[in-house]
Amino acid sequence: MILTERNQGVLTIRLHRPDKKNALSQQMYRDLVSALQDAEADDEIKVVLLGSTSECFSSGNDLQNFLGAGELNKQHPTVIFLYQLARFSKPIIAAVDGLAIGIGTTALLHCDLVYATEKVRFQLPFTALGLCPEAGSSVLLPQLAGYQRAAQYLMLGEAFGANEALQMGMINQITTTDNLQALAAEKAQALAKLPSAAVQQTKKLLRKQPEPITLETIATELAAFEQLLASEDCQQRINNFFSRKTS
Ligand code: COA
Repeated sequence: MILTERNQGVLTIRLHRPDKKNALSQQMYRDLVSALQDAEADDEIKVVLLGSTSECFSSGNDLQNFLGAGELNKQHPTVIFLYQLARFSKPIIAAVDGLAIGIGTTALLHCDLVYATEKVRFQLPFTALGLCPEAGSSVLLPQLAGYQRAAQYLMLGEAFGANEALQMGMINQITTTDNLQALAAEKAQALAKLPSAAVQQTKKLLRKQPEPITLETIATELAAFEQLLASEDCQQRINNFFSRKTS
């Protein structure tokens, strides 16, 4: 479900669940957490490169896990992953193609460099599911895009493409599907060759280690998210997604 590969100081993690459009299951979150933990502890790893094996980055959280999800406490694999991502000390580069929905987009706000194809489609359909933002996106997205644009994406849930993402500074460069892996790998190698103490210190300074407000926001969002998730309306909307092909 996730594939990892080490090469010259770079740990590449690729989401691999093509039949479900790379929806992130609880097991995938556990595997991501474990891969990131190893990368954090291993001095040989200087950079993490996050991508996917197919022309689809991720359709977001596995909605099946949202049915009767229960408490989003600090033992929950998704919650562990969110904090780990926000606190990760080494640079993370993302290579994004196709769909990037929900956490498929919000996770990118924690990456240091993001490369995307012209076919990418970002979407944060939280409100349509009866949910609210997560992963610190309610503070990180307005910082990047400004309040009204963030409301367009987080409140209306409108999808946006590579050009809008580039314009707001959410991605670094647009490329083709054929060139995506090579471009992201080249940037990862370039970062891995730089003095890692200097690179990590720079990340810390840029992120203000990370900003306490990001961590506080993740916690506040999770409390609201958990409450909304438990509501009948939200559970019904998720059930509607799974019954859409039969109804
Ligand atoms: N969670 C669980 N399963 C998902 C999923 C998700 N987030 N996204 C897609 N899938 C599953 C579908 O149920 C389907 O499974 P099936 O073949 O057993 O029926 C399979 O992945 C393929 O999806 P499908 O909808 O047939 O493909 P599509 O190309 O028509 O549409 C999406 C792709 C991603 C646009 C659509 O599946 C979708 O809107 N997914 C939900 C996105 C979402 O709301 N994410 C959560 C945000 S918080």
